[in-house]
Formats: sequence, structure tokens, C-alpha cells
Amino acid sequence: MANPPRQVDSSSPPSENRRSFFAVFAALVTGAIATLTPLAAGLFAFLSPLMRKSKSPQVRIALLGQVPDDGIPRYFPVITDREDAWNLYPQQRVGAVYLSRQPGSAEPIAFTAKCPHAGCQIGYAAGDDLFRCPCHTSAFNLDGTRERGDDEVAPRDMDKLPVKLREIELAEGGKVTEVWVEYVDFQTGHKEQHRTT
Ligand code: FES
Repeated sequence: MANPPRQVDSSSPPSENRRSFFAVFAALVTGAIATLTPLAAGLFAFLSPLMRKSKSPQVRIALLGQVPDDGIPRYFPVITDREDAWNLYPQQRVGAVYLSRQPGSAEPIAFTAKCPHAGCQIGYAAGDDLFRCPCHTSAFNLDGTRERGDDEVAPRDMDKLPVKLREIELAEGGKVTEVWVEYVDFQTGHKEQHRTT
């Protein structure tokens, strides 16, 4: 009589199964790290400019001689390098300021020409004793305060900017004094000042 066929147990012993499971798991983890590390580094390099805090530029606006001490505001464009998260745009117009110097004062005061209500350019006409915004009729005294206080549509006074004077030696001899302004762009529509960046 023929013997019954022998059954072959093809399954591996449990300890061998565990070893191969850990080997596959380790290979997967190593592969994931090898793939994700350069990806994460690339992503960080791409996004890091967004996390960078930009500082307000000091901008040379005028020579002191262009701002006589007669109290009359003078309008100057603000031209400086502009930077977004990834690009640098050299020497762009980023805004405008008014400089004025009171009689006997050595240093001018500076206001941004951007209206704190909605960002229109505030105007000044020679001989007027007010700055006027053409968009929604806000008016400001020459010291930057709102003419009608909280009754103006503009939620705050004109934004005053820090000023520094720098004396420069000329190559051909002599000196000039330059007016530099820390140009800050403020958000519009708020009672308090908030920087845009
Ligand atoms: S933008 Fe100046 S009053 Fe509205």
C-alpha cells in the first residue's frame, strides 16, 4: 500500500519572520529618511525667505539745503531697493514723504504721504495750511494731526517717520548734510500703527 504524501510545512519559524519584518521596516525607514531629508531641506530653503523679517530701510531722501526752515512741507519720492520674499528690485520707488523744518530747527520732520485711511497720496498745495487727501476729504494740520480729530474719516494722524542727518565729506572738498528717513510702510484703516511687514 502506498504511503500518504508527506506534508511540507513551508512557513518559516516565527523568529525568522520577525527578523525579516524588522529588516523590511528598517529599509523602509532608511529609504524614507533618505528621500525626505533633501525634500525638507529644499522646502525650508524655498520657504525661509517668507519667515525672514524685513527691516525698515534707511533711505537718503534729500539734502538739508532742499528743506529750508520755513515750515513749508516739501514732497520727495522714496527710492530704495525693494525686496519681496525671493527677489531684490534695485532702486524702486516705494513711496513718498513730506519733509518740513520749523524756523530755527536744525532737523526736519518727516511724514509718509500715504493716507492712513485707505492709502491714497495725501496732497499739499503751496500756501495751504493743511495737507489734504483727495480720496475721502481727510485733512491734516502741518504737524500731521487730523484737522477734525476723530471726526475725520482717517482713523489716525499722518504717520511720522524717524529722521537722521548725516554729514558727508565731498571729494572736491566741503561737506553737505543729507536727510535720511527710516521708511516704514504702515497698514491703512487702523487707529494704531501696524507695519505692513
Ligand atoms: S484715503 Fe485718504 S481719506 Fe480716504
